[in-house]
Amino acid sequence: MTRASLDGSRAVVTGSAGKLGPVWVGALLAAGADVTALVLEDTQDDVGLAKLADQYGSSLDILVADVSSRADLEAALVHMERKGGPPAVLVNNAGIDQPPVPGAGELLEHISATTFLRIVEVNTVGAFQAMQVVGAAMARAGHGSIVNVGSIYATVSPDMRMYDHLQTDPPFLKPPAYGASKAGLLNLSRYFATHLAPHGVRVNSLSPGGVMGTQDEQFLSKFSARVPLGRLARPDELVGPLLFLASDDSSYVTGIDLKVDGGFTAW
Ligand SMILES: NC(=O)c1ccc[n+]([C@@H]2O[C@H](COP(=O)([O-])OP(=O)(O)OC[C@H]3O[C@@H](n4cnc5c(N)ncnc54)[C@H](O)[C@@H]3O)[C@@H](O)[C@H]2O)c1
Repeated sequence: MTRASLDGSRAVVTGSAGKLGPVWVGALLAAGADVTALVLEDTQDDVGLAKLADQYGSSLDILVADVSSRADLEAALVHMERKGGPPAVLVNNAGIDQPPVPGAGELLEHISATTFLRIVEVNTVGAFQAMQVVGAAMARAGHGSIVNVGSIYATVSPDMRMYDHLQTDPPFLKPPAYGASKAGLLNLSRYFATHLAPHGVRVNSLSPGGVMGTQDEQFLSKFSARVPLGRLARPDELVGPLLFLASDDSSYVTGIDLKVDGGFTAW
């Protein structure tokens, strides 16, 4: 299949370590972009990124930046501009979720505002600041594409029965701030889409459903039964949708949420 080309472009991805960060970074590199992968300080030894560094050499540079620090994001932009100009693509991937941990249940009424606010600070405000800093530079250059990584839980609430086999007391709860922060991010994408459109910058969100990883068998089976396509996504199934939004293949697309969820939110 012919993929969109980003030859000669620079892209930046926030929170590039972990499960999906290297998927986005690898997709952009394979499409011909030079990529600046922003990582939190303690995640520089990420296996996925290390493999990409071996494969792509100087096309990938890895830089520490906490998205909750505007100063870090501004320093990252200065770094990229020294390397040849503002990025043409920004992927806001940095995010905090809470994977199900046996024994780590919590009563809804006990979840602290501090915990809630930290998730919003990274998932929503972090992307907001990155769009302010990088979006403004893209606007000055007259072109760019921003892709904000959302979630199905921006649209629907998690079904906690998917976790009841963990038998924690109190039950495991997916953090209430997670979906709220992603719903905020989707609307923020539309806000920036309208403001940056006159400057040639497009802004969209990409909302994955469940992606295959290290989930337990019972969760996989319950989740799959809830998906019209009957399974979770393979990580490589996120590549085409990302490159579509990042490249000129979507030159007339701005302000949308592209759901890559096997139909999860259609039911
Ligand atoms: N994995 C999935 O099934 C799935 C589904 C839907 C959406 N998502 C979204 O995709 C994105 C990546 O998820 P993942 O599964 O790879 O999670 P992950 O926990 O493996 O990766 C998240 C990354 O964000 C980084 N991060 C956290 N706080 C940060 C901060 N303050 N500044 C910079 N980076 C920070 C972490 O270091 C990590 O590299 C998240 O936004 C998540 O909400 C994931």
